[in-house]
Amino acid sequence: MKPTRYLTGITTSGTPHLGNYVGSIRPSVRASRTPDVESFYFLADYHALIKIDEPARIQRSTLEIAASWLAAGLDPERVTFYRQSDIPEIPELTWFLTCVTGKGVLNRAHAYKAAVDKNAATAQDPDTDVTAGLFMYPVLMGADILMFNAHKVPVGRDQIQHIEMARDMANSFNHRYGPHFVAPEAAIEESVATLPGLDGRKMSKSYDNTIPLFASREQLRKLIAGIVTDSRAPGEAKEPEGSALFQIYQAFASADETAALRQAYADGIAWGDAKQTLFERIDREVAPMREAYEALMNDPAKIEAILLAGAVKARKLATPLMAQLRAAVGLRSLQTTTQAAVTKTTKTSTAAFKQYREKDGKFYFKLVDTNGAVLLQSRGFESPKVAGRSIAQLQPIGETALEALASQLEPVAPQAHPALRDALSALVLEHNA
Ligand code: TRP
Repeated sequence: MKPTRYLTGITTSGTPHLGNYVGSIRPSVRASRTPDVESFYFLADYHALIKIDEPARIQRSTLEIAASWLAAGLDPERVTFYRQSDIPEIPELTWFLTCVTGKGVLNRAHAYKAAVDKNAATAQDPDTDVTAGLFMYPVLMGADILMFNAHKVPVGRDQIQHIEMARDMANSFNHRYGPHFVAPEAAIEESVATLPGLDGRKMSKSYDNTIPLFASREQLRKLIAGIVTDSRAPGEAKEPEGSALFQIYQAFASADETAALRQAYADGIAWGDAKQTLFERIDREVAPMREAYEALMNDPAKIEAILLAGAVKARKLATPLMAQLRAAVGLRSLQTTTQAAVTKTTKTSTAAFKQYREKDGKFYFKLVDTNGAVLLQSRGFESPKVAGRSIAQLQPIGETALEALASQLEPVAPQAHPALRDALSALVLEHNA
């Protein structure tokens, strides 16, 4: 019933390069325009603290990444675009998740393990230069994702393990405290190529082989001139396979343009000319964005305002969910009763749950509006207690619980969704009043 919610974070530890653009920024901006998709993009600046202890670099990177995404066409009205550190609920949720995550699970996280293995290889103490921040990285990431109950998380392959850990955290928490979280899934874009860098290896900051997305025209031309090629002379046929230049071209060009360059390779185009073709093709796509980028970089106040507005939007979801979670784990006012009583029929202003037994001997419930129309119908339960438990899960959190309870409920026709959603929100408000 809800639109699919996509969420992804960008660590604020560098300057966006063409690889980031092709692999993440461009597909994300496109996806954010799809109907029935709700997108959350955020600047993962808490994560950046794990890698970087230069305050000015963190700030600079935050500005550059925000400006890049906006210049590439991200519409902050349409998506929720925010900065992680503007959402105090995220570190709070990190603690809750820390308490349901096995230490052994975190021991197996790739980044942490790599650091420990490196120490072992050099005969050092395993914990040398390993911060607890690095160890906790997956939990912070889990909080980013679960805070907004994202269904899909577009990430690179290196992040799949983290999404699996977030799923485990959602399940552990739900198991202990009721169905508060959606279990997220990684969304790996198979069609998006990883871009080679100047030296032919994957374009990556760690190889120092990147082409900044918003290099000036002159810089861009110079950098492209430095892409590795083989030593074939002009007039000699060239091989597109394994040619970094060709692969980068392909990421920007149409099928026809790519076919034309393939032909030019076969016809023995000079490397200098091929590089000029590549430069012109990239610049054609980047130039208009570059102008927008430069304007934004000269107006940090504007970006700051956009991010703060994004945080307000994000916190409209985070604050009530956090309140719910605090209550669920037992951090609650001493005046509230410990267990909300579930009566056979819970009367509300808009709709009510009815519990009953059918001829098949099973126990059912339904949610009925004031006119007697059925908004939600359960499947059969073995005991009234189990049926009651599902109601108890729906009452405090409504829609969020629907997904978790899907297997216990009859499917709801799409045209009935708005009425159901309204009734559930009313129930939640009433319940939490
Ligand atoms: N760890 C991710 C990366 O390095 C960045 C990130 C932080 C993230 N929090 C996230 C990605 C939540 C997706 C969802 O690429």
